[in-house]
Amino acid sequence: MRTTSPDLRVDLCRVRLPNPLVLASGILGTSAQLLERVARCGAGAVTTKSCGPVPRTGHPNPTVIDWGHGLINAVGLPNPGVEAEVEIIAVARELLAPLGVPLIASIFADTVAGFAAVAERISAARPDLIEINISCPNVAAELGRPFALDAVSAAQVTAAVRAATELPIIVKLSPNVTDIVAIARAVEGAGADAIAAINTLGPGMVIDVESGRPILANRVGGVSGPAIRPIAVRCVYDICTAVNVPVVGIGGVSCGRDAVEMLMAGATAVGVGSAVYRGGPEVFGRIRDELAEWMSAHGYTSLSDFRGIAHER
Ligand code: SIN
Repeated sequence: MRTTSPDLRVDLCRVRLPNPLVLASGILGTSAQLLERVARCGAGAVTTKSCGPVPRTGHPNPTVIDWGHGLINAVGLPNPGVEAEVEIIAVARELLAPLGVPLIASIFADTVAGFAAVAERISAARPDLIEINISCPNVAAELGRPFALDAVSAAQVTAAVRAATELPIIVKLSPNVTDIVAIARAVEGAGADAIAAINTLGPGMVIDVESGRPILANRVGGVSGPAIRPIAVRCVYDICTAVNVPVVGIGGVSCGRDAVEMLMAGATAVGVGSAVYRGGPEVFGRIRDELAEWMSAHGYTSLSDFRGIAHER
């Protein structure tokens, strides 16, 4: 008997992805060639490392450690600045176009006007989508409290970027709030085309008990990986009950069943980050194939057959 492969294609804000797996920002998104490599390994879309108005070196090492149940990081948003990032995006677009894998440009700034300026400049390089990273927990000492911690601030950034670009915008939210749904509603109301949830949890701390010192040079950092997946799934589930825009579910996804869980919570696409740190870009092909196998085994032919079914009572 001949069986057809399940259809993994996804439309995210009118942009077609060959499958729902998105390289999350911050992992391997620092050069056009790395982005291409991740796409060739099976990602359905790739996100650049978040870029700001001017170059930043980020925090000193150690910036990332695997603490056994996931990662903790305080990289400090190192990036070459928006002018250099425009060049990276232009090359990446050329490399990704034949693969049919869209490019998401992730941006940050320390002011509302700064977000708008970076969005406007980056739009000239024509990424397929822009991710607004308002949720990094690692730079408050230098850049101020994350905009994602407050609905009014999150909406102000979203509205400013909305006015600065015609490209679809994805707003990346923080789990480190008491009511993520209120923030999601606020950014949807301010013009977000999609929501990414979640950024890292915390900040947390890991102490080296021999030296008695926090291991990260920044002392604290955002926690990610398998340990936070249930929190991410709950956030995605709650956001999907409250907004009409698509959600990119991110947080601890490392196998096909994890991706299924995010989709069942209502996610349109699924971000993968820490699993790439642990397993290399090849994790995308593995997770994609596991997702397709799971769908075949359960008689599903498209993602919409089971997306959001966890909401059924
Ligand atoms: C970092 O560069 O410190 C991580 C970025 C983020 O959490 O958004």
